[in-house]
Amino acid sequence: MTTVPRFYADSADVDAVTELLADGLVHGVTTNPTILERGGRTVTDIPELYARWDAEGAREIFFQAWGATTAEMLGHADAILTLGDKAVVKVPATRIGFAAASALARRGADVLVTAVYSPAQALAAATLGARYIAPYLGRLNDAGRDGLSEISVMQELVAASGTEVLAASLRSPGDIVDLALHGVTCFTAAPRVLLEALQHEVSDRSSAEFDAAVARGLA
Ligand code: E4P
Repeated sequence: MTTVPRFYADSADVDAVTELLADGLVHGVTTNPTILERGGRTVTDIPELYARWDAEGAREIFFQAWGATTAEMLGHADAILTLGDKAVVKVPATRIGFAAASALARRGADVLVTAVYSPAQALAAATLGARYIAPYLGRLNDAGRDGLSEISVMQELVAASGTEVLAASLRSPGDIVDLALHGVTCFTAAPRVLLEALQHEVSDRSSAEFDAAVARGLA
């Protein structure tokens, strides 16, 4: 089976996200309440952000549900899903979040279980029919764990299910490549990291040489 890898912008910096969407460089946009806050936004901005990114061509737009109870989380999840068919709900990998994920998946909704920190949580999300799990590579490493090896175990555990690993907390293009070598195909990262993945100084030098040859030929 052929699988085309996908990049997602993990950001609520609308100018940076717009640049990536306009140039067709990402499949979609992922957010959570922390990312909204970093972008100077709050959950009240979710409908506006959805409309903007939908119009700009995002194929999947992720917002996170919140709440102290499963019912409360499901209420917010429903509001996110009614935004449109590009909306994907994220829920945290907590007791309440797993219950919400189960209810949403049973209704046929695409749900991403986020902040997955153990292979057991990854497997649990797959048993519930989650569309995606998001383990955090950088934060696993920050916690003194071997993030790459843990995520590769998660990838192996869910590979035969309908659940995909959408890796997050990626801080360099090398993080993306390392995970891709272990079978991960979906990556969300800050726009800076994604743009860095496109760039290489030798490519830039080669491009300048091509331009110079064109200019010499036209002189
Ligand atoms: C994603 O949902 C996470 O918030 C994000 O990837 C965390 O990245 P960081 O650990 O580099 O802050």
